[in-house]
Amino acid sequence: MDKNKLVFSGVQPTGNLHLGNYLGALKNFVALQDQTKCIYCVVDLHAITVFQDPKDLKNNILETTAGFLATGLDNKKSIIFNQSAVSGHAELAWIFNCVARVGWLNRMTQFKEKAGKEKEKASVGLYIYPNLMAADILLYKATHVPVGADQKQHLELCRDIAQKFNNDFKKNIFPIPEPLIQKNISRVMSLRDGTKKMSKSDESDYSRIDLKDTADDIIKKIKKAKSDTSSIPDNLKDLEKKPEALNLINIYSDLSEMSLEQVLNEVRGKDYSYLKNKLSEVLIEVICPVGKKIKNLLEDKSYLEKVLREGTEKARNLAVHNIKEVRNAVGFI
Ligand code: AMP
Ligand code: TRP
Repeated sequence: MDKNKLVFSGVQPTGNLHLGNYLGALKNFVALQDQTKCIYCVVDLHAITVFQDPKDLKNNILETTAGFLATGLDNKKSIIFNQSAVSGHAELAWIFNCVARVGWLNRMTQFKEKAGKEKEKASVGLYIYPNLMAADILLYKATHVPVGADQKQHLELCRDIAQKFNNDFKKNIFPIPEPLIQKNISRVMSLRDGTKKMSKSDESDYSRIDLKDTADDIIKKIKKAKSDTSSIPDNLKDLEKKPEALNLINIYSDLSEMSLEQVLNEVRGKDYSYLKNKLSEVLIEVICPVGKKIKNLLEDKSYLEKVLREGTEKARNLAVHNIKEVRNAVGFI
């Protein structure tokens, strides 16, 4: 256990967890909990930056919690809780709204993508969302943040906020946190379009593998996944020109714990149907047991609520101490 390292990460309760969440984030969360102290948060305050039906939100908070446990997080080892239950997140986010600069937020590509052409109609919360994310991390003085590649820019903003706060108030209160981004597969792409990331918000179910998918769902989705008409290239350079094929091979490589070279040795020159059969097999082996566990856990909602309540208590104890220090530095009475 590394005593100087504290890990924090969050997942939005906005729908089913998918393979991108698993390979880009959750798998790493699980590996880290045996090495150091970890805090994993269901970020419900982030979710409402886009309107959520209250009933769906409640279910999704529990379902994301179930997803955490089903992929292997252990609430005895890691702190698992939901963000809105610890008021320090919102409090510190406000202070950071006054530290971060408008110009910094204007550079955030995720806001541009999510708000699209309707920027004027996006919620103010969606715009300042990265400040809340910085507050999540720094409220606990976390030093390491496992995320998918799409969150890298938000992490950079968090580092800038920590640095500016420390400079402005001439106190070394916050660490400068490091992103932990998976090397092999930091961005799982849509099964329908290899240039877009796999996402909960994609309208097409066929674009992603959900952790709750059945074996039949997986077989159907992988069969339908976009690939290529010619056979599988025999080298990485040619493969890189075919984003959909590269994505399938990347997923297969990660799940089967084989290097890209090893996979290419196995599949080069073969038809995509060969790769798709192999990929479906390994997906069924890895994902279906997780989906079954999620469904089982969801049968006992009071247990999931208890896990969150106990985690909240622990998170609150850490947050209260740090928020006091921040309030004092800012000059609040
Ligand atoms: P979200 O569901 O947007 O809250 O994301 C939760 C975590 O999953 C974050 O660390 C994301 O970076 C990661 N993630 C989401 N989608 C993908 C993807 N397609 N590939 C890799 N990581 C992802
Ligand atoms: N913004 C992240 C996402 O959409 C979720 C998130 C919120 C997060 N707060 C965080 C991730 C703090 C890491 C650390 O995926």
